[in-house]
Amino acid sequence: AQKIKIREAEKARKEGKRVVIFGWIHRMRMQGKNMMFLTLRDGSGYLQCLLGKEMCQSVDIPKLTVESTVALYGTLVEVPEGKSAPGGHELIVDFWKLIHAAPSGIEAFETKLNKEAGPEVMYDQRHLVLRGETASSLMKLRSVFLQAFRQHYIEQHYVELTTPCLTQTECEGGSTLFKLDYYGEPAYLTQSSQLYLETAIPSMGDVFCIQMSFRAEASRTRRHLSEFTHIEAEMPFITYDELLERLEFLVCDVIEKALSSSSRDMILELNPDLKVPQRPFRRMQYKDAIEWLRQADFRKDDGTLYEYGEDIPEKPERFMVDTLGEPIFLCRFPTAMKAFYMFRDEEDPALTHSTDLLMPGVGEIIGGSMRIWDYEDIMKGYAREGIDPKFYYWYTDQRKYGACPHGGYGLGFERFLAWALKRDHVREVCFYPRYMKRCTP
Ligand code: 4AD
Ligand code: MG
Repeated sequence: AQKIKIREAEKARKEGKRVVIFGWIHRMRMQGKNMMFLTLRDGSGYLQCLLGKEMCQSVDIPKLTVESTVALYGTLVEVPEGKSAPGGHELIVDFWKLIHAAPSGIEAFETKLNKEAGPEVMYDQRHLVLRGETASSLMKLRSVFLQAFRQHYIEQHYVELTTPCLTQTECEGGSTLFKLDYYGEPAYLTQSSQLYLETAIPSMGDVFCIQMSFRAEASRTRRHLSEFTHIEAEMPFITYDELLERLEFLVCDVIEKALSSSSRDMILELNPDLKVPQRPFRRMQYKDAIEWLRQADFRKDDGTLYEYGEDIPEKPERFMVDTLGEPIFLCRFPTAMKAFYMFRDEEDPALTHSTDLLMPGVGEIIGGSMRIWDYEDIMKGYAREGIDPKFYYWYTDQRKYGACPHGGYGLGFERFLAWALKRDHVREVCFYPRYMKRCTP
């Protein structure tokens, strides 16, 4: 028999070859004593398999359980219409071997994955949950989208860099830093690779990285992880408008690539509404967003309205983007509420050339800005944030040796996926999610 993967079943059926397929029992059903239907899973797909009378007399039959591993031998036949089978074919088994029997009884797979136990118990069993159809589809689509991002950057001639995870500098504020002991010296898990990417542009031009970032977020929300996949890019000699255009292009191109890939059906099964968004995206100034929220009479938990100068947190952000129902660039945030490195508007230094991209269902998926490129200005930025410039000498040096206007952004990949695949919670699109109080498995 020829050893094949389930994805090759169609070809093998047409060739009429006898095959052997190795895999896991995804589902099983006895029909009377002399017929058994199995759904076999091998990572490449699902296959319906039929064990007839002779096959059902094997001594191993009682040992068969969901998640047991088997080798099934036989020939593939077309399944008549009306009888639904994945791929439209089934394997008529003429010989089979049990490779390993999964437990039955209280240790049985189905018992372990009792969804009524609640999400935290299910996340304790993440290693088993990943065998399910939805979880494994989400992981496969993670891979598809990650490839689409890389392909976008490679086509646009960006250089991919691998940046350090261990750092002695902060990028997004001290309150979310994971601190660690680095041979007796203080160090942190990186919050963002931005500062490192900025040092690459003088010799590498447009650069990007796909790297884990870490945030000690003190609350559990639908969109905050302690460890997330951060897709970041940095580009020399661009304008603020060009930064926004690059972002629109990135988001639209990645969705277009994914939807024109062979995974299109799998994507649409999870989110039938996914379409390439219309360009240009709506641009909204921070001050107009505050005004919009006041006009809409959107109130904080304490019943008051939002004031100019206040941060726009998750709730109002979601309200706004869900009401307008389209991507929104929030632009020109006040300097006081943004990071030390953000470039200030020449006409109004109280504002930064910054943007957050909001998507319906999730809110902010990207944060980006033009960067301060003047030496004196960056020194003022450190002072304002109470940062000791000592550890930043290498970042400061970029403002001495041939500085240039430049900008970049960071996209939270899990938030992007939560939007594109219509998931309630970012943890659903993580392989093994890390959030407050969860570091296992
Ligand atoms: O807005 P943030 O904090 O910006 C930066 O880190 C910049 N240094 C990026 C840059 O310009 N290179 O984070 C960027 C994005 C957010 O828009 C969000 O999508 C995601 O990273 N993000 C998180 N995703 C999941 N869990 C968290 N705790 C996240 N914190 C940020
Ligand atoms: Mg942000």
